[in-house]
Amino acid sequence: MDFVEPINKLLPRGLKTYLNSFPLLREVIERALLAPVDKALNGREIPLYTGIRTMLSPNEREYLYRLAKEVTPNGVIVELGCYAGGSAILLGLGARVSGSHVYSFDPFDSHMDRQTEESDGSPHLNIKKPSRAHVEETLRKRGLDDVITLCEGFSLDMAGRWGNGNINLLWIDGNHAHASQDYYAWRTHLAPDAMIVFHDTNHGRNGFTLGREDTTQSVENLLEQENIRNVYRVDAITAFCLQ
Ligand SMILES: C[S@@+](CC[C@H](N)C(=O)[O-])C[C@H]1O[C@@H](n2cnc3c(N)ncnc32)[C@H](O)[C@@H]1O
Repeated sequence: MDFVEPINKLLPRGLKTYLNSFPLLREVIERALLAPVDKALNGREIPLYTGIRTMLSPNEREYLYRLAKEVTPNGVIVELGCYAGGSAILLGLGARVSGSHVYSFDPFDSHMDRQTEESDGSPHLNIKKPSRAHVEETLRKRGLDDVITLCEGFSLDMAGRWGNGNINLLWIDGNHAHASQDYYAWRTHLAPDAMIVFHDTNHGRNGFTLGREDTTQSVENLLEQENIRNVYRVDAITAFCLQ
């Protein structure tokens, strides 16, 4: 039973939009107020309210942290779709425990024409996207810049240039219209026991209204085609292990 998220959900939409324009205020509210209350009442291992704009639910944040924490020592974690660093931070906190490293890919605020052209309907292009330098500074302030490397570019382009070893944990939250394409592009770099995790899925499962229809379809087709049976689901996350 989560004691904090229901309160967070009750906050008027207008206030949340307002906070998007004042990130420092958001940071104070989340880090000074929500995070300690959430940690105390819900017994969290780490503060899940980081002050960074993200669509992840608290359960999803905790799950990502746990997966990164359980990665084999000196392991490799790849994130496709960083945006402001909301999930990268959780992966980074877990990577710190497991002794692994996170590589996070996003075009950030570069190639905006191409981003608009390839847009998957996500609202991220509606407001100014954070630059790589900005996200790097966010990570540095939280002491995570040594466990996370930000890579500016589009996932399908970057997959062909990957040279940092077998990937143990692949977190796919980039172009939602073609989520399975990212899996197929990166598959060749996966460790034999890699964990693959998608966001924005599970739409319509047991009446679940979050997630996206196109991403859900793309991932369900993949599970079917690859005959994957051991599937883990946490809110809008769908995950599976190759072994
Ligand atoms: C939903 S946001 C990521 C949110 C972040 N993972 C979090 O949980 O806070 C999706 C991000 O993926 C980026 N993106 C879209 N297409 C991409 C691609 N082909 N390669 C890499 N990133 C992409 C978007 O620009 C956006 O910044």
